[in-house]
Amino acid sequence: MTAPDLPAELKAALEARLHGLSRTDAATRAAQISKTYRDGGNSGGIRSETDALAYALARMPATYAAVTASLNALREINPDFAPQNLLDVGAGPGTASWAAAEAFSSLQNFTLLDANPALRTLALDLARGSSRLDGMTYSQGEARATLAKSEPADLVVASYVIAELDEPERTALADALWTKTRDTLLIVEPGTPAGYGRIIALRQRLIASGAHVVAPCPHDGPCPLAAPDWCHFTQRLPRLRAHKQVKEAELPFEDEKFSYLALTRAPPAQRPSRVLAQPVLSKVEITAKLCTPGGLSVTKVPRRAKADYARARRWRWGDAVIAGRPGEGRDP
Ligand SMILES: C[S@@+](CC[C@H](N)C(=O)[O-])C[C@H]1O[C@@H](n2cnc3c(N)ncnc32)[C@H](O)[C@@H]1O
Repeated sequence: MTAPDLPAELKAALEARLHGLSRTDAATRAAQISKTYRDGGNSGGIRSETDALAYALARMPATYAAVTASLNALREINPDFAPQNLLDVGAGPGTASWAAAEAFSSLQNFTLLDANPALRTLALDLARGSSRLDGMTYSQGEARATLAKSEPADLVVASYVIAELDEPERTALADALWTKTRDTLLIVEPGTPAGYGRIIALRQRLIASGAHVVAPCPHDGPCPLAAPDWCHFTQRLPRLRAHKQVKEAELPFEDEKFSYLALTRAPPAQRPSRVLAQPVLSKVEITAKLCTPGGLSVTKVPRRAKADYARARRWRWGDAVIAGRPGEGRDP
């Protein structure tokens, strides 16, 4: 499985671009961009080269970690998936392409699409000299218009993009993404109730169009969670020196909350349960909230069931696990 921290080539490219740039200026811009996002705005405020770099320093490590965790989850279920080409829609600085390149050595062609010229310039700049991404194609334009002109791909990714669209555009884009998906479509969103809400609406629509869920859900039925609960996961990632400076943060790590959905054309061969929260350990048992093929389950594994207890002790929020009667199955 791929590590959540940025690949060395990308780290070096980001650090190199910071030379000659005022850290205070970058921190101010990054704070403005973060505030815009918190206030429900979008990346439209990213206009200059410095804005794009500030955005990348502040957000790329976290979105990279979330996409990597989602790709790890889908690879765990479909270990034979070996995509040759990728469509990265709303690619921004190229985050998902970098993550997919790390996850799949089989990838040969990378096509990125985005409306923002400053982010496109930065993405091309960061990829220059990269052993995997140097030859990528990056088209600038509206997502649906550029998608219409693109060849279908084995893997299509929309990372932190859907949030920037209104509801009719979101639906239309989801249909267009699916049309261009030869095998697997991955959508990643912030792990907020709103992000989950957007994902769940598209999930229902695309399943009705013939898609199957690979991850996180172990079924294609309706989501068993009811508000105020929502399906989301968390990924811890280390902060780079520049990342800490731009965010004016002290902690050497941060936790990115994300929601995701991986869909395929063929039903997955295995459908393990998904751990939906960090399991609680007590002296007598482990209590785990699981989404199972049969619905939501609060599973209790007693300490006296030694082998199962030992197995359940390793369960972490987000893991795919085989949970059943004592002695049944193994975690994938
Ligand atoms: C939050 S950024 C995410 C960038 C990147 N996918 C990542 O995960 O770091 C959202 C991106 O979507 C792009 N975007 C939003 N609406 C778009 C549209 N209608 N057409 C093309 N790109 C769009 C923005 O320009 C921006 O680069």
